[in-house]
Amino acid sequence: MQPIEWRDGALRFVDQTLLPGKVHYVETRDPDDVAAAIRSLALRGAPLIGIAAAYALALAHRQGRDLRPVADALAATRPTAVNLRWALDRVLAAADHESEAVRIHDEQIAADERMGELGAALIPDHATVLTHCNAGALATGGIGSALGVIKTAHRQARAVRVLVDETRPLLQGARLTAWELAAEGIPYEIIVDSAAAGLIACGSVQAVIVGADRIAANGDAANKVGTYALALAARAHEVPLYVVAPWSTVDAATPTGSGITIEDRAEPEVLYVAGTRVAPEGATARNPAFDVTPAALVTAIVTERGVLRPPYGPAIASLSSEPAVAR
Ligand code: MRU
Repeated sequence: MQPIEWRDGALRFVDQTLLPGKVHYVETRDPDDVAAAIRSLALRGAPLIGIAAAYALALAHRQGRDLRPVADALAATRPTAVNLRWALDRVLAAADHESEAVRIHDEQIAADERMGELGAALIPDHATVLTHCNAGALATGGIGSALGVIKTAHRQARAVRVLVDETRPLLQGARLTAWELAAEGIPYEIIVDSAAAGLIACGSVQAVIVGADRIAANGDAANKVGTYALALAARAHEVPLYVVAPWSTVDAATPTGSGITIEDRAEPEVLYVAGTRVAPEGATARNPAFDVTPAALVTAIVTERGVLRPPYGPAIASLSSEPAVAR
């Protein structure tokens, strides 16, 4: 299964809103369709939306459109993941837009492999790890970031087991991460998000491994809402929390997490579960899609450029000028 593919000048992708029930491929040559797919989470995950937006600009170029307004519209679809603006800026600046989009995709595949190797070395044998949301192939186009680490440990026969937060409101854990783990034959159990702290407290979890949507220059990391609560529980019980993300997620221009825009999504995502209303008529909801985990709660940040340890400010600054990993 390829979550996203560039084929003969068209973009083909899996509509993730329909998973795991249905593997439905969408094929389009229209960048506006790609923007709509990112907005609806048919395409999701920080690196993958960057790749999708890059291909969308290549489509816009083929249509002979002015790329700037198309890029601005794509950038506005989701405000938290910095990968989106980063990928758009790369494609805008490139002489050959299509080749640059393909390069961004290829680099992500290579980065995932490297993060997998570096991160797997941090996981003890026979560990039960807990993950949140989906930071897998569906979110990156490669083997995944956080899930890439888990897959690599599994391929090394290290007997890893996974607790998967269901990840309300849109259930990326229960729907997508569980689906990917099952396909790899990795043992897992889904838990409700509110079970995580208790399981961490009673010693059932040896590491928490998550992805990120944006990492500020000081190491504060925005990720799916609920990650901060996991980080607090992990620290209280001396369980390591690893953030796994490609360098394109590092936003050196944003000094701290307080500068990261947190996307607010629509109320119905909270008021309904799988299309069924669960709240009384007239109920209102607040739906921040992400939260920020302070750097002080992060044991290490795994990137394709290396494993960063605190203090993150100098570590990020020293690696900022390195070139991308080639495929
Ligand atoms: O709203 P989503 O599903 O796009 O949120 C995704 C996450 O929070 C992921 O953990 C993050 O993008 C990292 S994906 C490698």
